[in-house]
Amino acid sequence: MLMWFLCLLFVLILFGLLAYWLLVVTEGVFLGRRVVVWLYDLTAHKYDDIKQFGTETEQFFVVRPLLQSLTNQPAPRILDVATGTGRLPYHVLNDPLFHGRVYGLDASEKMLDWAAEKIRPFGDRAPLIQGVADKLPFPADYFQAVTSLEALEFFPDDVAALHEMVRVLQPGGVLLVTRRRGWEAKAFVGRYRDPQTFEALLQNLGLVAIDTRLWQVEYDLIFAQKPKSI
Ligand SMILES: C[S@@+](CC[C@H](N)C(=O)[O-])C[C@H]1O[C@@H](n2cnc3c(N)ncnc32)[C@H](O)[C@@H]1O
Repeated sequence: MLMWFLCLLFVLILFGLLAYWLLVVTEGVFLGRRVVVWLYDLTAHKYDDIKQFGTETEQFFVVRPLLQSLTNQPAPRILDVATGTGRLPYHVLNDPLFHGRVYGLDASEKMLDWAAEKIRPFGDRAPLIQGVADKLPFPADYFQAVTSLEALEFFPDDVAALHEMVRVLQPGGVLLVTRRRGWEAKAFVGRYRDPQTFEALLQNLGLVAIDTRLWQVEYDLIFAQKPKSI
């Protein structure tokens, strides 16, 4: 009897750990896009409270370097892939030096609802689109910059998504993405890339001037450029 009880307990613990890994640590990515999006729909209302984005750090690490790379563009078009609750559009559009538009694309309707609330004051300078990262609904060479923060690891096919980002990026344009780092990154079994492998991937996509910067405990920031002729 005790033996059966211990076996049952063992199975339950294993099942709990598996569920924790699938749903919490890797946020549903091994269960498919629908599960990822469903989890973001469920948690959208508390996303900003959990993340606690600080205006000054966002400006210092993300907005200023991004805008510096666009100084020769008077009114650039930026696409933020997996924009979530509008973190990047909100902080870029709040910069008085920025006079362009930021398009935010995300697969989660609820995340976009929160984004819409936040960036409402910017009107048509901040269009929001519900869509998926590996099939971007834009023509080739359309954006002066494409960004995607804290998102690549949740896409079913991150390479396909990167291909799409490069396709819609104008020659000479800037790509800004993140690479997951730290112990949790390695829990994304078969999807983890070390800095060298990640940079090699971007090189294979034809990108140049690849620059990896330490950013947060869990993420590096990577800037790259699409050559003027690819
Ligand atoms: C961790 S959040 C990052 C949001 C935002 N970039 C930020 O830094 O706060 C990941 C986002 O990716 C979105 N997402 C996940 N899979 C997606 C896909 N295949 N296509 C587009 N968006 C996706 C989720 O809905 C979620 O909003």
